[in-house]
Amino acid sequence: MTKKADKVSSWDAVKQAHALDGDASRLKAYYQEWAERYDDDVRNEQYSAPAYIADLLKRLPINDDTMVDPENPEISILDAGCGTGLVGKELAHRGYRRIDGFDISPEMTDKAKETGAYRSLRGNVDLTRRMQEYPDDQYDVTVSCGVFTLGHVPPQSLLELVRVTKKNGLIVVSTRNSYCESSNFESFCQKLQEEEKVKLVHHVSDGPYIEEEGAQYWIFAVA
Ligand SMILES: C[S@@+](CC[C@H](N)C(=O)[O-])C[C@H]1O[C@@H](n2cnc3c(N)ncnc32)[C@H](O)[C@@H]1O
Repeated sequence: MTKKADKVSSWDAVKQAHALDGDASRLKAYYQEWAERYDDDVRNEQYSAPAYIADLLKRLPINDDTMVDPENPEISILDAGCGTGLVGKELAHRGYRRIDGFDISPEMTDKAKETGAYRSLRGNVDLTRRMQEYPDDQYDVTVSCGVFTLGHVPPQSLLELVRVTKKNGLIVVSTRNSYCESSNFESFCQKLQEEEKVKLVHHVSDGPYIEEEGAQYWIFAVA
C-alpha cells in the first residue's frame, strides 16, 4: 500500500473506533479486528500520548508527603485499557517494573504481552462495569490513555479507577479535547472533587495527543 493509502486507512480506523457509541461489545469486536494493525495505524496518526503520559507521571513534582513518589520504580501501576501496550512500554522504558494492564479486548492484551512490559494482563475486563477482578485500594497509580475518548468510556468510569487506586495514590488520565468538551468531563471531575473523592494535583489544558488534535491530561490524588 502507498503511504497516502496507509494514511487514509489509519485515519478511517481511528474515526470508526470513535463511532462505536461506547457499546462495550462493539468496541471489543472492533479492537479484536484492529489489534494487528493498531500500532502502525496510530503511528501514522502521530499518536504521541503514551510517551507524553509516561513523562507526565515520571516528572510530576511531589508536593505532599503522603503522595506516591513517581520516581520510585517499585510503585504498582495499573494501565486501564492498555491496548497493545504502548503505555506499558513507555513506563517500562522509564524504569517502572510493577505494571499490570487490562483491556476489554483479549486480542489487544495478547499484543501487550509481547512487549514484556507487564507483570500481569487481563482481557475481557470492562471499565464501564464494576471490575470484579480488581479489589479496592490496590494500586499506587492508575493510568488510562486514549480510553476516555469519543465513543469509548464515559466520565463516570473514573469512579472505577478511584476504587482500585490506593488512598493518596494517583490517577493519570488523558482526554482528547473534543471528548472533554462533548462529555462534560470537567464538570464530572469537579463533582468528584466537591464530594472529596479526589484532589486535582496537575492539569494540562492542551497537551500533545495525535496529529488531528491535542488532549487534556489530568492527575488526581485519591482522597
Ligand atoms: C485508543 S485505544 C488506547 C489503547 C492504549 N491505552 C494506547 O494508548 O495505545 C482504546 C482502548 O480502550 C479499550 N476499551 C474500550 N472500551 C473499553 C472498556 N469499556 N473497558 C476496557 N477497555 C476498553 C479498547 O479495547 C482499546 O484497547
